[in-house]
Amino acid sequence: MVQVNENYLKLPGSYLFSTIGKKVSAYSAAHPDRKVIRLGIGDVTLPLVPAVIEALHSAVDEMGRAESFRGYAPDLGYEFLREIIARQDYQARGCGISADEIFISDGAKCDTGNIQEIFGPNIRIAVCDPVYPVYVDSNVMAGRTGSYDRESETWSNVIYMPCTEENQFMPGLPKETPDLIYLCFPNNPTGAAVTKPKLQEWVDYAMKIGAVILYDAAYEAYIQEDDVPHSIYECRGARSCAIEFRSFSKNAGFTGLRLGFTVVPKELKCGGVALHALWARRHGTKYNGAPYIVQRAGEAVYSPAGKAQLQEQIAYYRKNAAYIFNGLKEAGYTVSGGVNSPYIWMKTPGRMTSWEFFDYLLEKGNVVGTPGSGFGPSGERYFRLTAFGSYENTVEAVDRIKAL
Ligand code: MLT
Repeated sequence: MVQVNENYLKLPGSYLFSTIGKKVSAYSAAHPDRKVIRLGIGDVTLPLVPAVIEALHSAVDEMGRAESFRGYAPDLGYEFLREIIARQDYQARGCGISADEIFISDGAKCDTGNIQEIFGPNIRIAVCDPVYPVYVDSNVMAGRTGSYDRESETWSNVIYMPCTEENQFMPGLPKETPDLIYLCFPNNPTGAAVTKPKLQEWVDYAMKIGAVILYDAAYEAYIQEDDVPHSIYECRGARSCAIEFRSFSKNAGFTGLRLGFTVVPKELKCGGVALHALWARRHGTKYNGAPYIVQRAGEAVYSPAGKAQLQEQIAYYRKNAAYIFNGLKEAGYTVSGGVNSPYIWMKTPGRMTSWEFFDYLLEKGNVVGTPGSGFGPSGERYFRLTAFGSYENTVEAVDRIKAL
């Protein structure tokens, strides 16, 4: 009999955002007259900026002419995009990252999920708690996480680093020794941002114990404060212990277009093996590259016009974040995040669990958020709201929450 990968059977429930999507669809079907405002999944709502649209149109035209038509993209990405990323995102900030250390892909979700494939089956991962579910679930699928305890909602072979109000949602160095450390800053879901000295501590720690940091910087564009690093490579020694993931989804509104990249420095080695070579091999074998037209759109993000237009777009979402943060605070809620991040992390009122508050808010306020417990046990009694709605809907949602 054909055997399935039984690790999949160990996964409790479905993917968090699928569960929420189903609940909201069922609610809307039962109450077609109610206007439901969705501040759950971090999905953007503003249209692509004109510089990106122009680049897309022109690349489509190129594809329609024999002399400029392109077939398969280079599997690691087009040089024009890798070069501009290396220059503007890294070299301009003093990080010595070169174009050939950048791997273009169709998004950070896939890359953060797939990267674990290049590591051995018996390594131990450490994750923040709460955490973006993809990091843990992809390791469950690979059979690395041990057994699941329904009571504590934890995996026996995962090291959890609680991020709570007491530590300002900043993980402490783990007591047990991990091999892979997943960090995401600005953080999804808590919205917390790490300072450069704090991140340097993590880099020093990883170098000391020989661990690799998987650094998810998908929300980098929302950083406003000066002491918050935009890249882990701003820290000394990070080139030899860290992989960084970036996304065009939240900084350029590409959630539907799909584009991201991963940086694997050439000197990053495990047991003498360069991870760059392994990731290149994986990419070459399993991936045919992001579409040419999308990579041209990505290039436009770095043009002077693209940058100016996107600054406005990000300012729009930041305004939403500030509105949610201040509105909830005024209403007496305990809130954090929202400053260097599009996510606002709030405590549920009374003794409500995260899912109880989800149901209550959906039914009484017709507002959708994300239950904190969906991100891990330390997220229980917390709730995440995103700033990616329209301003009008954001204002209405906050007013509805205030009126509950
Ligand atoms: C989220 O809401 O956490 C994100 O949008 C999910 C994602 O980027 O995959």
